[in-house]
Amino acid sequence: MASLKELCIFSRNVTIFLSKSRTQVSVFFTLFFFTLTLLIFIIFFSSPSAVTTKILASRLHSHSFSSIHEFDFVPVSDTHTTSSTVSAPTNFPTKSWIFNVTIQEDDKSCDIFDGEWVQDNDLHPLYKPGSCPFIDNSFNCFKNGRRDTEYLRLKWKPHGCEIPRFDGLKMLKMLKGKRLVFVGDSLNRNMWESLVCALRNSLIDKNKVNEVSGHRQFRSQGFYSFKFKDFKCSIDFIKSPFLVQEWRFSDKAGARRETLRLDTIHGSLTKYHDADIIIFNTGHWWTHQKTQKVNNYFQEGNHVYNRLEVADAYTKALKTWANWVDTTINSTRTRVFFRGYSASHFNLMRDSSLFGRGGQWNSGGNCDGETKPIINETQLGPYPWMMRVLESVISEMKTPVVYLNITKMTDYRKEGHPSIFREAKSKRRPGMFQDCSHWCLPGVPDSWNQLLYATLLQSQQKFSHPK
Ligand SMILES: *[C@@H]1O[C@H](CO)[C@@H](O)[C@H](O)[C@H]1NC(C)=O
Ligand SMILES: *[C@@H]1O[C@H](CO)[C@@H](O)[C@H](O)[C@H]1NC(C)=O
Ligand SMILES: *[C@@H]1O[C@H](CO)[C@@H](O)[C@H](O)[C@H]1NC(C)=O
Ligand SMILES: *[C@@H]1O[C@H](CO)[C@@H](O)[C@H](O)[C@H]1NC(C)=O
Repeated sequence: MASLKELCIFSRNVTIFLSKSRTQVSVFFTLFFFTLTLLIFIIFFSSPSAVTTKILASRLHSHSFSSIHEFDFVPVSDTHTTSSTVSAPTNFPTKSWIFNVTIQEDDKSCDIFDGEWVQDNDLHPLYKPGSCPFIDNSFNCFKNGRRDTEYLRLKWKPHGCEIPRFDGLKMLKMLKGKRLVFVGDSLNRNMWESLVCALRNSLIDKNKVNEVSGHRQFRSQGFYSFKFKDFKCSIDFIKSPFLVQEWRFSDKAGARRETLRLDTIHGSLTKYHDADIIIFNTGHWWTHQKTQKVNNYFQEGNHVYNRLEVADAYTKALKTWANWVDTTINSTRTRVFFRGYSASHFNLMRDSSLFGRGGQWNSGGNCDGETKPIINETQLGPYPWMMRVLESVISEMKTPVVYLNITKMTDYRKEGHPSIFREAKSKRRPGMFQDCSHWCLPGVPDSWNQLLYATLLQSQQKFSHPK
């Protein structure tokens, strides 16, 4: 069907071309024959299966729902994947191993991730909808026509304490001369854009934020960097959806293969080990179909597993990450954060027994029309097995890791996703994929950054080291 449509468009283009001037026609035919020759060349020198795979892959790409499309396609699935192969430790150590994220108030301490969303009509988002030029179109719901505003007026309220009001200038002062890096998938990119925008909004001269390395570097090297000139501080994002290395090679028969090197940290991380603050995440890609292909995909050393369950692969990868952090990062200098799993809300059949959540990003899952968060806690999903594995891996690390335990707080927010507003109205088609996984900006990730800010404030003493 798709190819038929492409063919139609192609022949229509030919007609248009033919109706133009003669020189254009000759240029067109030169190009056409050149392309044809190239195609024949490619087909001749690749094995048939490789060609099919390539075509299939490009099909998949054109169906991707994220605007970070070509180079940052994030397959996403539901939070509610469970696995029986991983057993969480039952005698869980006290939380002291996790860099203590509590707020002291009247001699009581409170877990800032345990709370509720409250309506606050005076609440102003950390930056005005549509005001920040650094937001990807696919997260820019306002620009794409979303006009309900209730979702912008919800404030995270931990049980038993207040979190401090976000003060961008104060945060920039804390970050003076420092480098803060987000490493992970496009949900960390979501958080990174939120922080850059929130900090930018506190500047009087908004031009004092520089894109040091932009789209070009991102394409070739997978990283972005913004610099706040007056504070000599940079806020970067490195794309590393698995934290370990994706591997492409040709096997003995010459066929192209892809594996995931569970024993090797993602190469671009090595350049960032001396950043002052690093915020990691990984999650959604482990529930993707590609990763779900548990056969002949996961590799350690020269060994490609015939079959390895995703939960085991994920555990191995996290251990590789933990070992890299423990051996490479100087924990006196660098604060390490790990952001937890962010919930998705793909409803296929509303009100079904599955909390109304049967769908997937690629099977018609949707979340449009949602304007209110979940209120009844019984409708929340279970704590994801991946996070149990993470907690257990972190507990054995030498380096203190601050765990931003945002899973539950995001699970309430079924109305915070871009859904159809991932694209401008002119580009929307009926039946298009909806994004019920990333978040509108301004929106939910702003609260993660508020909690990050609260944590940094709390640890300022420990965090600032003598010059
Ligand atoms: C966090 O630190 C406070 C005081 O420093 C302590 O009372 C509390 O028990 C700690 N919480 C956890 C979970 O370790
Ligand atoms: C770790 O960082 C601290 C603070 O920058 C520095 O004083 C110390 O020498 C570093 N340690 C190592 C082993 O590099
Ligand atoms: C929450 O949902 C459960 C199960 O659907 C129901 O029994 C309970 O009454 C609800 N609670 C509230 C406060 O609505
Ligand atoms: C994170 O939050 C969940 C609730 O969503 C809780 O069950 C879990 O124990 C928390 N983990 C830590 C380390 O606090």
